[in-house]
Amino acid sequence: MRMCDLILAKKEGRELTTEEINFMIKGYSEGAIPDYQMSAMAMAICFRGMNKRETLDLTLAMRDSGDVLDLSEIEGMKVDKHSTGGVGDKVSLILAPLIASLGVPVAKMSGRGLGHTGGTIDKLESFDGFSTEIEETKFIESVNSIKIAIAGQTANLAPADKKLYALRDVTATVDEMSLIAGSIMSKKLASGADAIVLDVKTGNGAFMQKEEDALALAKAMVDIGNRAGKRTTAMITDMDEPLGNAIGNALEVKEAMEALQGNGPKDLMEVVFALGKEMLLLAGRAENEKIAEELLRESIAQGKAFQKFEEFILNQGGKKEQVKNAQLLPKACHVIPVAAKEAGYIKRIFAQEIGLACMTLGGGRETKEDQIDPAVGVVLEKKTGDIVKKGEILAYIHSNDKEKTEIVYERIQRAYEIVEEKIQKAPMVKHIIRE
Ligand code: URA
Repeated sequence: MRMCDLILAKKEGRELTTEEINFMIKGYSEGAIPDYQMSAMAMAICFRGMNKRETLDLTLAMRDSGDVLDLSEIEGMKVDKHSTGGVGDKVSLILAPLIASLGVPVAKMSGRGLGHTGGTIDKLESFDGFSTEIEETKFIESVNSIKIAIAGQTANLAPADKKLYALRDVTATVDEMSLIAGSIMSKKLASGADAIVLDVKTGNGAFMQKEEDALALAKAMVDIGNRAGKRTTAMITDMDEPLGNAIGNALEVKEAMEALQGNGPKDLMEVVFALGKEMLLLAGRAENEKIAEELLRESIAQGKAFQKFEEFILNQGGKKEQVKNAQLLPKACHVIPVAAKEAGYIKRIFAQEIGLACMTLGGGRETKEDQIDPAVGVVLEKKTGDIVKKGEILAYIHSNDKEKTEIVYERIQRAYEIVEEKIQKAPMVKHIIRE
């Protein structure tokens, strides 16, 4: 078999066989196929696409290029949750302990943030001493004893995808649906869960800005998951404005802690309950949506969800004082209000602008090597649909640097679109895809 022939076949629109796809991914990850041939193939795929069978084969070949986690020693149905990333997305921080508090095992691999969206691990590291570098045996032991552990992705999780994604990033071949779906699902399938719930964000702050693209990606991923034998559901949720009020690592942890104690913002809790219900259904922990929602609400109201959060943070090295008192989490030196330039109703808050403002303050990474400042970020006082007077506070900037504060002040003001007519906020969940 010659890679050149496969590139030609795809260029002409021919379907690649399972053997050809396995040859290509194995050869590329082992270094036998060079970057220039793989980039030509990625470009051919961008123009010709791949059908469902080819996409599944690509995903499985990338999954099998490294470690596939064996979670069979963990009792019960393991349901994983994945978000395509958004601004202020702290859903995993809430959902993981909430689901675990109901006896459903949560064995989660999470990533760090890059660009304007944050990562769960960065957020959790706001706790002094907290570590996600845990050995596989301790990871499994933790889930068996306290029902929850969150680990950083091992270097050897779908390494072929890592290599291919880096190549796509510099050859303008990221934005092809089967390549994206295969890339995300190869890592999810290697993480070993029995079922998967996907939160596919759409809107200004999302990877998939257009709803139809988010829908196509969701369908492609659900198809891969189900064909690979893992029951998979995807929800398309809104990311036109940041999720919740807090954006920035420690600020989001604080908001998540409040949410676990029953004081979460409405939009955030809408997403948490929607995804949580689906996880309980897939885990067989609830017979229907109504029961699932009751279980979730009860756990929060009875303090069980927050108790599980505390147990989880302490188990992975976090400090009790910071869990008991969120005021002890990293805090910025300056908290500066941003005033509205005009009166009216908030039509939208451009999530991407707020995410970039947070990054400028030091709360996100431009490159993988950047250090992040856990204390900084933005807290929104006004959200879509709210009424605002001229001069009223829209948001607070939490900053450790006066110069950076000045840079982001106007950016945040501009992120708010204020109009005269009343605005009705649309539901957070736009679609649910189960097959
Ligand atoms: N995220 C991924 O993990 N892979 C892609 O291809 C795009 C986004």
